[in-house]
Amino acid sequence: MTTAPERLLQAFRQYLGALSEPVPSRFLEGLGEPMQARDLALRTLDCLAHLDRIAASAPPESHGLIRLLADHRDQLVWGQTYTAADFGQHFIDNYGWLELIGTRGHFESEEIAAGFLILGPGVHYPDHHHAAEEIYVPLAGEAEWRKGNGSFLRWQPGEVIHHPSNVSHAMRTGSEPLLALYLWRGGPLAQRSVIAPAETEAF
Ligand SMILES: [Fe+2]
Repeated sequence: MTTAPERLLQAFRQYLGALSEPVPSRFLEGLGEPMQARDLALRTLDCLAHLDRIAASAPPESHGLIRLLADHRDQLVWGQTYTAADFGQHFIDNYGWLELIGTRGHFESEEIAAGFLILGPGVHYPDHHHAAEEIYVPLAGEAEWRKGNGSFLRWQPGEVIHHPSNVSHAMRTGSEPLLALYLWRGGPLAQRSVIAPAETEAF
C-alpha cells in the first residue's frame, strides 16, 4: 500500500519536473532516487487549518499537490523551528513546515532538505539567514519576499526564488495565507536560522 508521504513525494517530484522555470539542477540531484522512509511520530499544528483556503485558491499547476497535502495533513509530521518568544504568539499559531526529505523528515537524505512552508494571513517572518542555500517556490496564496537589503516583492505561484548561502531573507503575508515548497542544500540541513540581517549581503 502506498503511504501518504510516498504519494506526496511522487507529486512533489512531478511538480518540480513540470515547472516552466527550472530549479537549478544541483537542487534536484538525488531527488529522483529511491529514498528510505522513516517511521516518525505524527505531529499536527494550528496552521494546518489554512490548507483548505490555500487549496481553494491554488492554480491548476499546483492544485493536485496541494489537495494531496491537505487531504493527508493528519498523516504527516509538521514542525516549527521557533517559539512564541521569537516572533510572538500570532506567528506560532500561523506558521509551520513539513520536512518531506532531509536529516529528520519522512525520507532520509544527508544532501538535501525539501518540504513545505505554511504562513497564515498577517504574518511577518523577519530577516533571517542560514548557511544552506535555499529555493522557495510559492504554490498558492499571496506573499511578499525580501532578499538582502532589497524591497519586499510579490512572487507568483510557480516562480523560483533563490537565497544564496547566508544572505538574509524575509517574508510577509497580507490577507491571504501562503503555501510554498522549499529546498535546502550545501549546508547543515537542520540548522536553526540566525534571526538577523546578514552582515554581508553577498548577492
Ligand atoms: Fe530560509
